Amino acid sequence: MNKKLIIGNWKMNPSSLEEAKDIANKIRLMSEGLRQTDVVIAPPYVYISSTKPKEESGNFFMGAQSASVDPEGAHTGEVSAKMLKDIGVQYVIIGHSEQRERGETDEVVSKKISAVLDTGLIPVVCIGEKTRDQESGAHYDFLRDQIKQTFASVEKKSAKDIVIAYEPIWAVGATEPMAPDQILETTIFIRKVFADLFDPKIAKKVTVLYGGSVNFKNAESIMSVGKVDGLLVGRESVNITGFLELLRVADSLQY
Ligand code: PGA
Repeated sequence: MNKKLIIGNWKMNPSSLEEAKDIANKIRLMSEGLRQTDVVIAPPYVYISSTKPKEESGNFFMGAQSASVDPEGAHTGEVSAKMLKDIGVQYVIIGHSEQRERGETDEVVSKKISAVLDTGLIPVVCIGEKTRDQESGAHYDFLRDQIKQTFASVEKKSAKDIVIAYEPIWAVGATEPMAPDQILETTIFIRKVFADLFDPKIAKKVTVLYGGSVNFKNAESIMSVGKVDGLLVGRESVNITGFLELLRVADSLQY
């Protein structure tokens, strides 16, 4: 199996630069001891330069939480993928449900993916249903449509470079994650839609993460039963004790 990928989505946290530097430093130190796990932190834009290690660090990478559709110009409040690349970012979260909630459509998400790929960065594309109805299975129709719309502009040759983060919205910021067996079932479905869209080889290789109420206690069953390639972690990624433990657990898993 490939290296596992754990991404910490800091959202609009922590509230001070000092704290941000401290958290980043502890995670970087821990990452030096990891054998089969890559760690990405995605702090708010303003903390990226100060939390990035001075030297390249084997398992530790910088991420951002979004990027503009446009490459440059009169777009107040926006940050381009090229600007992020210039300051050392490698991964960019796109289409997070909290951005979609503020009006980001599948079409915009699709354009952002292209902007990020064109710049040579890795898009971490969030998808996920708002509600789940186990009986009717309507969430599968929703996911199929969302995947088709979201990846509409991606060329086959770039599809393997994408990271998919499956985040059922009802499990984000909740008390419990999705049940690991449902994660397995849903991520198999996601790979199948990806296979129809691109090709089965790409679908098999593409990195699929799970996100939504992950913590150090549930990470093991999510990863080993859910058989995901890694995790997109919100709250627990700025809870330093919990996150370091989560990294230790993830790195120790064989599956
Ligand atoms: P959570 O957030 O881990 O706090 O549920 C996950 C996310 O939004 O990426």
